Amino acid sequence: MDFSAFVRTLQAIFMKSYDDLLTERYGTAAKAADASLDAAVAGLLGHRSVRAFTQEPVGEDVLEQLVAAAQSASSSSNLQTWSVVAVRDPARRARLAEYAGGQRHVAEAPLVLVWIADISRLGRMARALGETCEGLDYLESLLLGVIDAALAAQNAAVAAEARGLGIVYLGALRNQPEKVAAELGLPHGAFGVFGMCVGHPDPARPAAVKPRLPQSVVLHREQYSARGEAEGVAAYDAIMTRFYTSQAMNVQGWSGHSVARIRDARSLNGRDRLSQSLKALGFAIK
Ligand SMILES: Cc1cc2nc3c(=O)[nH]c(=O)nc-3n(C[C@H](O)[C@H](O)[C@H](O)COP(=O)(O)O)c2cc1C
Repeated sequence: MDFSAFVRTLQAIFMKSYDDLLTERYGTAAKAADASLDAAVAGLLGHRSVRAFTQEPVGEDVLEQLVAAAQSASSSSNLQTWSVVAVRDPARRARLAEYAGGQRHVAEAPLVLVWIADISRLGRMARALGETCEGLDYLESLLLGVIDAALAAQNAAVAAEARGLGIVYLGALRNQPEKVAAELGLPHGAFGVFGMCVGHPDPARPAAVKPRLPQSVVLHREQYSARGEAEGVAAYDAIMTRFYTSQAMNVQGWSGHSVARIRDARSLNGRDRLSQSLKALGFAIK
């Protein structure tokens, strides 16, 4: 048996079955129509956010591999309108934790990656070439940067998880984008879309796979249809109530909890003023 066949055999032995992974993912007994599953998809299906880390550091070599994975994501017109700031300094992580509403895992994780929508580089390139860069003043450029940063970050997340590391995204860095920008020395035209804690999961505080909506709610064939949505959401509410109870969390269902996040401007935790912040950070958003 050659080495890669040996690795595949080991993966097959240690990998959960497709049905098991789907059952965890949807929180209800599930059976795959086609039983074939490769290790990459098994890794995706097993994702869970990790918010408890050991103190073991994440090496520079690993960081560089994560960034190579991130740079392998598709990029709109290959403009690569993103950057990432790797933060290890405990004092800086503590300040980021504070900006993110006091999330303990930000101070605890050995590595925090802040993913940046970055149109500043194109601006500098245009100036160097003596060209105008009016196109950067439009909403499209912000979307370019945010989409590119998200795709890159998710590639890094998948790569980290494939190595047995844990990650959690930090959208809460958008509560105070100007403070994050000042902390990281971001130039005009660069905005921290979200952070990501990276570290070795603490085995004493394991994270569970969080079930998702049934496919009937999110998968539309040929044309969008909300028919059957209410039943699907109700079934998911029941699954999530059980999930939260199993995690000793006092949350009832998913829909009420989710709607509370968008009830009014105050529910946005400061992000109701994001368009002003973005303008201050150099995104004209015409
Ligand atoms: C863009 C984005 C921002 C997020 N921000 C936070 C955050 O600030 N704090 C946190 O604990 N989790 C954050 N999360 C993690 C989500 O809460 C989590 O992905 C979701 O509850 C599903 O759980 P799972 O990742 O374990 O499947 C964020 C996730 C995404 C994609």
